[in-house]
Amino acid sequence: MTAVGDRAGMTTTSSAHPDTVALEADLQEGFWADPPTLPARWLYDEAGSRLFDRITRLPEYYPTRSEARILRDRAGEIVDGSRTVVELGAGTSEKTRVLLDALVAGGGGALYVPVDISTEMLHETANTLAGEYPDLRVRPVVADITDLEPPLPGDPGTRLVLFLGGTIGNLTEDERDAFLRMLRRVAGPGDRIALGFDVRKSPERLVAAYDDAAGVTAEFDLNMLDVIARTVECTGLDRRDFRHDAVWNAAESRIEMWLRAVRDVRAWFPTLGREFTLAAGEGIRTEIARKFSGDELMAELGRIGFRDQVVWTDDAGDFGMVVAQVP
Ligand code: AVI
Repeated sequence: MTAVGDRAGMTTTSSAHPDTVALEADLQEGFWADPPTLPARWLYDEAGSRLFDRITRLPEYYPTRSEARILRDRAGEIVDGSRTVVELGAGTSEKTRVLLDALVAGGGGALYVPVDISTEMLHETANTLAGEYPDLRVRPVVADITDLEPPLPGDPGTRLVLFLGGTIGNLTEDERDAFLRMLRRVAGPGDRIALGFDVRKSPERLVAAYDDAAGVTAEFDLNMLDVIARTVECTGLDRRDFRHDAVWNAAESRIEMWLRAVRDVRAWFPTLGREFTLAAGEGIRTEIARKFSGDELMAELGRIGFRDQVVWTDDAGDFGMVVAQVP
């Protein structure tokens, strides 16, 4: 099929919704690549965020529970005298509360800086925390956490920058390198970072965690097709033509989520002037979730210039927390 539109020659209408503009750009970049991919952020619309919340409570999905246990057992050592906690991608700050307890227990001047792209969620969180923690100052920051600029709020050398949930694993190697280098740049000497990461384990357990028996993760993945259909003009992209697939890629040490075509797919994107085809059995990669050993992550942080790396895991060794300092 020939392409009928010349995007470069078209005038982008200023009335296009920002999501439409962003998704069209991501489609252009990823859908016709080999393999077709789309950034995982498109999994997290309102329905997707609710589904993810359900995932965190599934019997097969251990990371949330294991991380909560580490935070509970090690809160004092993780906070370790910090006066400011900066949390990247804070969301509702649910699991951070044990750290906030330790922060406030350290005395006056405790400051919590939740950073998130979602203004609404941040303000809700800030209001709730203000009621729960009268001795804590809360200063929400609306920002893209991959693109922070110094200085961070709080006194230099007393900050702890948190990135929880194992989300570090959802970044590609290049994205992770850029992200950690950015943290090294925005955190000042003496500041520390704490990263939650998922530990490499048997492929059976990993695949089960990303393809649960109740089908919640499958629904979470398929929802991305609904997001596309709702956000950009297209015909022929139907969720009934796909199934969710979770695959362990040993060479890359990562779980990959795929939307696999169950029959030939032929979809048309009029605003892009492009046709998207998939043969039955081919797929779209929608998310990667890299799994680490503590040593790998400590070495990586060392190469980037962090010092005094420490790793804690839960008793089962399923999930880890690495803390490192900026020299
Ligand atoms: C957000 N992130 C850490 C989750 C993970 O485990 O990689 C996203 C997820 N995707 C499917 N299940 C959970």
